[in-house]
Amino acid sequence: MITGDEFVYLDNNATTPLDPAVIEEMLPFLTKCYGNPSSGYTFAGQARKAVDLARERLAALLGCEPSEIVFTSGGTESNNAVIHSALQFAPLGKHVITSAVEHSAVLRPCQDLEKRGCTVTFLGVDRDGNVDVGELEAAIRPETALVSIMWANNETGVLLPVEKIAEICRQKGVLFHTDAVQAVGKIPIHLRNTAINVLSLSAHKFHGPKGVGALYVNRRTRFSPLIAGGGQENGRRGGTENVASIVGLGKAAELAAKYLEEGKCSVRSMRDRFEKEILASISGASVNGAPAAAERIPNTSSLSFEGIESPAALILLDRHGLCCSAGSACKTGSQEASHVLRAMNPNGDGARRSLRFSFGRFNTEAQIDRAIELVPRVIGKLRQTASPIPVATAL
Ligand SMILES: Cc1ncc(COP(=O)(O)O)c(C=O)c1O
Repeated sequence: MITGDEFVYLDNNATTPLDPAVIEEMLPFLTKCYGNPSSGYTFAGQARKAVDLARERLAALLGCEPSEIVFTSGGTESNNAVIHSALQFAPLGKHVITSAVEHSAVLRPCQDLEKRGCTVTFLGVDRDGNVDVGELEAAIRPETALVSIMWANNETGVLLPVEKIAEICRQKGVLFHTDAVQAVGKIPIHLRNTAINVLSLSAHKFHGPKGVGALYVNRRTRFSPLIAGGGQENGRRGGTENVASIVGLGKAAELAAKYLEEGKCSVRSMRDRFEKEILASISGASVNGAPAAAERIPNTSSLSFEGIESPAALILLDRHGLCCSAGSACKTGSQEASHVLRAMNPNGDGARRSLRFSFGRFNTEAQIDRAIELVPRVIGKLRQTASPIPVATAL
């Protein structure tokens, strides 16, 4: 088996390694403590208590009440559940507003809605990857059932003004959801002080396990489950709880809160050092998305390089043991240029020339040194090569 230790892993927006403390906390619930949290006897009570503790820990990270948390199977389910729920409650609900740069876990269900007769406004973004709040406000109609705008973009790391948008939606009486899968654990979040109705998150983006996530549903927001069943999660998500994974999510949330509070995490400084060095050493390199690093999540650097094709760059970097991506992990291998970068610059070719590097707290300064040395060599080599490496044969 090839392990992550053999690579310089700079693809933490695709997924992150489990924190060893998370594994430790999960293990008893994969082995000895296998009770069903819904069972009434003492043995199963441990599982119930562990799920409750995870709920409290996640609520503390988000600045909300534990009762406002619904555990799900991940970001994709959370997003689908919100879109489903919003339309159940809107009597006129034939209109949804979202942005052109959302993850496919929002875009696809919205495209499906269109096929079922719903109108969807896909707001464009500017060169910095941001939506125009005035344009969004003007797009709200009496029949708008939902506005869904991501908090942080998974490809560029750009932070969108969701708190401001949520306030506008509250004034207009429209439900507001944010896909915060790339924001949770990376920036401080205090939901109590916001007008956000619903928020999606996923554990594997902040050193928790894959296949588990959650929804924050504000206590005054009505919610209709996507998955109906045995009344778990207070009737908001049927199915026996994935106890070990929920425990892992809770522990990962507790650790993320600790790192955010202490402000000691070196992720931002590693990202900034990498970005500065790469921009200085490679001519024709530029940052995709908000130029001020503060307007992006602290771990992401999406860069475009003149004179290269990203698929060829990915292959060469992979051969040298560096993991990064050309856009979202879901698109890797599809050869389709990033819809996010195309939305930011429809007439440019930056989408075909870009690489995303995303950092995490298990990266080391030595790995950053290696990346700073390797990336310019690979870009230089590609620029020398008249025709890029044919992807099929190089693989
Ligand atoms: C912004 C965003 N939303 C949703 C998802 C999907 O989350 P999950 O992998 O937990 O289904 C991702 C995963 O890459 C993401 O980056």
